[in-house]
Amino acid sequence: MAIEILATGRYLPERRVTNDELAKTVETNDEWIRSHTGIGSRHFASPDQATSDLAYEAAMDALESLAPGKAAEAALTLDLIVVATGTSDYYGFPSVACLIQDRLGAVNAGAFDVAAACTGFVYALDAAAGMLSFGRRKRALVIGADVLTKITNWEDRGTCVLFGDAAGAAILERTDAPAEGPGKRGIIQSVLKAQGSGAQELKCERGGTRNPYKDGETIEKATHIYMNGRAVYTFAVKAFTDIMQELLDREGITMDRVKKIIPHQANERIVQAAAKRFGLSEDKFFMNIEKYANTSAATIPVALDEYAKTGELKKGDIIMTVGFGGGLTYGGNLIVW
Ligand code: UT7
Repeated sequence: MAIEILATGRYLPERRVTNDELAKTVETNDEWIRSHTGIGSRHFASPDQATSDLAYEAAMDALESLAPGKAAEAALTLDLIVVATGTSDYYGFPSVACLIQDRLGAVNAGAFDVAAACTGFVYALDAAAGMLSFGRRKRALVIGADVLTKITNWEDRGTCVLFGDAAGAAILERTDAPAEGPGKRGIIQSVLKAQGSGAQELKCERGGTRNPYKDGETIEKATHIYMNGRAVYTFAVKAFTDIMQELLDREGITMDRVKKIIPHQANERIVQAAAKRFGLSEDKFFMNIEKYANTSAATIPVALDEYAKTGELKKGDIIMTVGFGGGLTYGGNLIVW
């Protein structure tokens, strides 16, 4: 019994914003952003688009890939919907997963969200895989979706140039393929980690129960991201390499067996530093940060979908996901396609 990924999907909002366009309203420039992060552009959700709108489109794309022309019927076969997000449509509840369940008409599915920031998809994949591995559940829709541009401080050039909006999705199924031994398939290892001592380094300060907005309060700044970029950078490089090593050790393989690494992409330099520490060529990583910037929980599933649709990924290939982000959280999955 294996937990395999049957199909993937993605959605990027229409509006693409280049570094040059951003530089018209923020004191920055294309050269700084590219040289410090590798980012060239990002996509912005429209004012009337919330996270569930992006997540729904990605889900439909994955369902269409699974069952062309029959996405609505395929939605009925879902037993579970898990959405990784840090930017829910609503404060606390309802979950984005419930909104998706309704829009898809997935009346047979349980639905909940996972809050693990940029590592969210890695966590959600493992949570869904675990839940499919016992009981009657057979099929799950796992989504990573975020609209960070609506919680960005546009006066903080150290963070506002880094983010974009997107959603990615994967459909998981418990199949009869082996999960152990030769010919094994599916999600074969997951490592989930947290370093809660770093919680204050990357957070949204206002609006939660620790520091709620009060009746009658004049709000100078809406809820927005605060990030200690240097601290998160240092954490990320170590987290990245630790996860890669632990996944390999747990599986008892070396990196040459892994065809591609699908990393969280917050800054190209973090991936380059990890590649250097591991003695790997940068080609080992599937990168798209130049086009999309950091889309938080969406980065890994969007990259996975793009990579899967290149046609390069063949049945039996081993791929690795690696994520890190707010919490602080970090983790990865090893998947036999
Ligand atoms: O997915 C969530 C996890 N997030 C991350 O992993 C992000 C991790 N951190 C980073 O990627 C990097 O720390 C940043 C990209 C956020 C910052 O890069 P940095 O090389 O550490 O820059 P810095 O903050 O040390 O700033 C260097 C200089 C400063 O000027 P001075 O003080 O040297 O004169 C900044 O004011 O660059 C300036 N600067 C900018 N200049 C033009 C900062 N942001 C910008 C900007 N445009 N957007």
